[in-house]
Amino acid sequence: MRVGIPRETLLGETRVAATPETVGKLRARGMEVLVERKAGDQAHFSDAAYAAAGVVLVDTASALGAEVVFKVHKPTRDEIAQMKPGALLIGLLDICHDDGTWKALADQGVSALALELIPRISRAQTMDVLSSQAGIAGYRAVLEGTRLYARFFPLMMTSAGSAKPARVIVLGAGVAGLQAIATARRLGAQVYAYDVRPEVKEQVHSLGAKFIELDIGESGAGAGGYAKKLSQDAQWREQALLAEELKKADVIVSTAQIPCMPAPVLITEEAVIGMRDGSVVIDMAAASGGNCPLTEQDKTLRKHGVILCGISNYPALMPTDASNFYSRNVMNLLFHILDLGGGELDLTKAMEEDEIVGASLIAHDGRQRWEPKIKKKE
Ligand SMILES: NC(=O)c1ccc[n+]([C@@H]2O[C@H](COP(=O)([O-])OP(=O)(O)OC[C@H]3O[C@@H](n4cnc5c(N)ncnc54)[C@H](O)[C@@H]3O)[C@@H](O)[C@H]2O)c1
Repeated sequence: MRVGIPRETLLGETRVAATPETVGKLRARGMEVLVERKAGDQAHFSDAAYAAAGVVLVDTASALGAEVVFKVHKPTRDEIAQMKPGALLIGLLDICHDDGTWKALADQGVSALALELIPRISRAQTMDVLSSQAGIAGYRAVLEGTRLYARFFPLMMTSAGSAKPARVIVLGAGVAGLQAIATARRLGAQVYAYDVRPEVKEQVHSLGAKFIELDIGESGAGAGGYAKKLSQDAQWREQALLAEELKKADVIVSTAQIPCMPAPVLITEEAVIGMRDGSVVIDMAAASGGNCPLTEQDKTLRKHGVILCGISNYPALMPTDASNFYSRNVMNLLFHILDLGGGELDLTKAMEEDEIVGASLIAHDGRQRWEPKIKKKE
């Protein structure tokens, strides 16, 4: 079996879907690996390192023409046209935005596994790209906060006087939020966190942060461990009660998301006006509309004296480790599929017998198998 690794073409993407370490493991299972020249360049994996791991360095068409293709982002139409009918594509396939890609894959006869749809169950943890990349994002986002905040995070006592520790508020304590809490704590900040799912309180405490309790009149816990959309009343209460807390923050790291929906607004313009000059908002939900309506995706702005950061691809700022984690997740998924087929790539059998493959296979046998339930902002 030949596995192809094309170079990512999306602007700003620096990751690569397989590293010299993982291609070595694929080779050890008897696969031939075709890596596009310079595919790992921006993640600091040289062609020489891939060659030493035994891959064949190829052009774009050959990498896309393999039986199995690993990518980070969804392919363009031009890339899909270069894929072989019957091939398997594994990648992040942007499952909330239907721009015709999934149908184009099905029409090309390509089977496609969307990593975003892998169920968040214990058995699938080694394949969970959302978690591995969100952890990196939470860490890197706090470092961005330290860069933009013109003061110290830890308590500093010097002969020139002392500086108070920063008060960091993390909104949304999922995978990214918990890593942000841990990182800000390691840097010596006083950390507070809030989430609509009350069950995360214990996890927040275990990381040494304080949980902000708000009485918004309902729980935000939804299906599958995710949050659900709040009623309009609860949203207003949440915004008003949070505004009081946010006034006291030096740095806010907001991560709140609801799958396939616009991010909830947690930091209103009034809340920003209430913050001190030089405070920082790291809005990690910028790509889905932002937790603060003043944030703009991939821009850093200053409004009402507050610095608002809308970086949307934090893992791409740490491409070496992000690629290390990503490529291990993808490799584990391929090995899992092969194990289900007794060493063969039998997607129909895997899809019918296994929840992980069944849930994430969005195109197979010429058919699109996924229709997102996208809800728009009211
Ligand atoms: N293998 C596993 O068992 C596994 C692995 C990873 C994650 N998970 C679970 O998956 C779930 C989703 O995690 P995620 O990090 O992908 O979440 P996410 O990125 O979808 O959302 C981030 C956080 O924002 C919170 N949020 C949403 N609306 C909010 C609002 N209005 N106010 C405040 N907070 C709000 C959510 O509750 C969530 O904690 C969690 O329950 C997590 O524990 C399970």
